[in-house]
Amino acid sequence: MGYNVAIDGPAGAGKSTIAKLVAKEKGYIYVDTGAMYRGLAIHFLKKGVSADDKEAVAAACRDAEVTIGYEDGIQQVYLNGENVTSMLRTEEVGNMASRTSAIPAVREKLLELQRSLARTQDVIMDGRDIGTNILPDADVKIYLTASVETRAKRRYDELREKGEACDLESIAHDIRERDERDMTREIAPLKQAEDAVLVDSSDMTIQEVVDKICSYCK
Ligand code: DC
Repeated sequence: MGYNVAIDGPAGAGKSTIAKLVAKEKGYIYVDTGAMYRGLAIHFLKKGVSADDKEAVAAACRDAEVTIGYEDGIQQVYLNGENVTSMLRTEEVGNMASRTSAIPAVREKLLELQRSLARTQDVIMDGRDIGTNILPDADVKIYLTASVETRAKRRYDELREKGEACDLESIAHDIRERDERDMTREIAPLKQAEDAVLVDSSDMTIQEVVDKICSYCK
């Protein structure tokens, strides 16, 4: 069994930024499970499947194979052999991933892939249900969060930096909607595991968060 660090929390809390830095400092492999849901979402979008049609989504899962690999230490997602990593981070794909991740067939599809990655190597895995469901015996569990306002502002700054037009209010609205969906779904909802450490990054720098999480890890 590898050494396992689970890091869960809402969209925009900084999980991937932090987890990548902790992975580097501690020599763990970083596993981004949201990227796997996004990979499957691309499959549903390509096939024109509606997120409301649970049966069609479940059927579409049968001809999707999601795998991951690493290039220069950066996680790549392959959908039926095609590297789709560069397509993962759009709002359209994120929303499709959030909606379809509530469907049991979608979660079942990715569960074994996630568990098998943690079985043999030291990983820091980020997602929504890692500490509660995927790796209930993880050595360290972190619930990383920040206020909606902070998360919206971070996303706004990120988009502005890329030169994309955006509106702070509508970003905050999307974040609230995504939180609501991820936290209230019936299967594997986002919630803090009982034995997870709560880290609120609203008033912390990236380095402070990294140091805090590293202090819990071997
Ligand atoms: O972390 P992210 O924004 O890339 O994740 C995209 C969506 O995937 C998110 O809205 C909910 C879903 N997800 C999930 O249900 N379980 C996970 N372990 C990771 C992501």
